[in-house]
Parts: sequence; C-alpha cells; structure tokens
Amino acid sequence: MYVLGIETSCDETGVAIYHEFKGLVAHRVFSQIEMQKRFGGVVPELASRDHVIRILPLIKEILIEAEITKHQLSAVAYTAGPGLIGALLTGAAFGKTLGFALNIPTIAIHHLEAHLLAPLLEANKPQFPFLALLVSGGHTMLVHVLELGHYRILGESLDDAAGEAFDKTARLLNLPYPGGPLLAKLAESGNPNAYNLPRPMLDRPGLDFSFSGLKTKAAQLINTHPVLSPELKADLAASVQEAIVDSLVLKCQRAIHQTQEKQLVIAGGVSANLRLRTKLQNMMNQEGGMLFYPRQEFCTDNGAMIAYAGFMKMKKGIYDDSLALEAKARWPLTEV
Ligand code: KG4
Ligand code: ZN
Repeated sequence: MYVLGIETSCDETGVAIYHEFKGLVAHRVFSQIEMQKRFGGVVPELASRDHVIRILPLIKEILIEAEITKHQLSAVAYTAGPGLIGALLTGAAFGKTLGFALNIPTIAIHHLEAHLLAPLLEANKPQFPFLALLVSGGHTMLVHVLELGHYRILGESLDDAAGEAFDKTARLLNLPYPGGPLLAKLAESGNPNAYNLPRPMLDRPGLDFSFSGLKTKAAQLINTHPVLSPELKADLAASVQEAIVDSLVLKCQRAIHQTQEKQLVIAGGVSANLRLRTKLQNMMNQEGGMLFYPRQEFCTDNGAMIAYAGFMKMKKGIYDDSLALEAKARWPLTEV
C-alpha cells in the first residue's frame, strides 16, 4: 500500500509517499520563506497561489523517485486543518480530485495530529501511550497521546505560542522572518544568564502556558538599549530562549509527574531547537524516562508526517469515499 501525503496548511508545500513495508520512499518540501520574508510574515493569498503552482511538479518528482506510477497509489492523505483556509483548500481540492480520478480513498488529516505522530517515522520511536509537547508557530500544547486518534489535552498556551514568542523577540532584535531559528543561532554565542527574565506560569498550578508577558518584558529590556551591539543581541537572544525553554521543560516535568508516563515526544517547529532538546533530555534522564523527536526536517511542516498519518488511519479503516472536501481553519485536536 502506497499512501501519498499532501501538506499545504501554511507556507510550505510538502508531499511524500509512504509504503506499508518500505516506509517513507520519497518526500519533498518547497518552502515559501524566500518569497514571504519580503513581507515579514505569511501573506495568505500568496501562500495559496504558490501551493497551486508547486504541488503538481512536486508530486511528479516524488513518483519518479519512488519508482511508481500514480496508478500504484492506494490512498491520498491531505491536511484538512487547522491552518490558512485558502492554503488548505488548494491541498484538499488537489487531494480529493486525484483520489476521485484514481478511484482511491482520501483521508483528511489534522495537521497537529500529524506533527504528534512524526516521531514515529524514526527508527527509535515511542510506543502508545506517551506524552507529547507540541510546539509550533501557532500552537503550544501538552497532550496525553493514549492511542491513534485519542488525545487528551493537558495544557495549552493561553496567549502566544512558543514559536510566536521566538519569532516576535527575533523581530525586536531586527532578525528577518522567520526569526525562531535565527534567534536560536544567535543565542549560541550569548550568555543565557545575562538577563533574568520571568519563567511564565511556573508560580501557578496546572499545565497551561503563557508567553505574552515574557515577550513584553523582553521588549522593555531591548528598548532600554538604544544601540544593540552583536554581543548584547546574543546575550538577549540567549536569555529569552532560556526563559522560553525553562518554562516548557518545567511544564513537561510536571506532566510526567502527573501522568506517570515515561516517554516524552516533542514535535512541531520549535522542537528543532537544540537548547530545548538538551534541557528536556537532561530532565528525562533525571526522571528515568526517554525523549523522542523527529529528525530536524520533519520538525517543521512537511508531507512525510501527512503520508504517515494517512497510512496509520488507512490501517485502521479510517478514510473517506465521498466527494466532499474537508478544509477547516479551526479544528480542535480532540475532535479528530
Ligand atoms: O510547525 P511549524 O513549521 O509551523 C506551524 O505549524 O506553525 O513551526 C514553525 C515555528 C516558527 O515559529 C519558527 O520560528 C519555529 O517553529 N522554529 C524554531 C526553530 N525552528 C523553527 N524556534 C526555535 N528554535 C528553532 N530552532
Ligand atoms: Zn506545523
């Protein structure tokens, strides 16, 4: 069984083919960052138009790489939400049309569910049930993953997502879009203890997150310096990163204690952050547990996680034969 996966929820066109025995046989991502960075963020209409241009050539490329024809596909999985509605509609319309033309089922995939399952693409993978920290540009969530399709949200951000906190601070430091990875790079040469920033929500019980107060404090701190020397910028970046990472790590530790789970998965764009990985690894060693994460390229948006989620659903007999295409800008994870 070959499953084609299509991801178009934001500014990456991702496609991949997953085979039940061979695993991932081909994948490609086209990132719109070069185009979108001129505008300092994602312009939804431009994102949709670019997906329309990219999707077909990318799929042709991976069919060649996988050495199969489209007639050997058994199903088409596409991201149905949450995300930018126009961008989602391009992938959904394409996926549904291809499914109809080939007379094969389609599977509407929840973008966050796919991120949660991405670590299962690796050789060293967790077993259900496990805890998951989902940290992306739009979401920060602690999820108890009980089994495929059964997710309990233990905590989430009450305001900004962790990725947003990285991106907004990066902008204050005059780093280009998307600032998260650049801020992390800059932080490597800075002192994480140079400035004492708040560790949000740690003084309160529960597993929710909040990053807007930290962002405001960082902005105030940055504004007290009329000139930002490279050393000062690095120290500010390292201190902000440390505050974000510490609050994520401590909430994960609380969730470990609460659930008694010994496996922690991190997924979503911010899970590429090396400081976060190191500090979570140290915490999990202390707790006698194991940390799992996707390879770097599958932390951010990609088609492989969609193809894999589609394959998992097909195995369970979850697919759609109707002609109605699904695209939802908002879609709670608990409603998959
Ligand atoms: O999962 P993703 O690709 O897209 C969403 O679904 O949001 O996540 C993108 C987010 C952005 O905020 C980006 O700045 C952040 O992940 N990000 C990072 C790193 N790499 C990506 N943040 C911190 N450190 C990184 N190394
Ligand atoms: Zn994502």
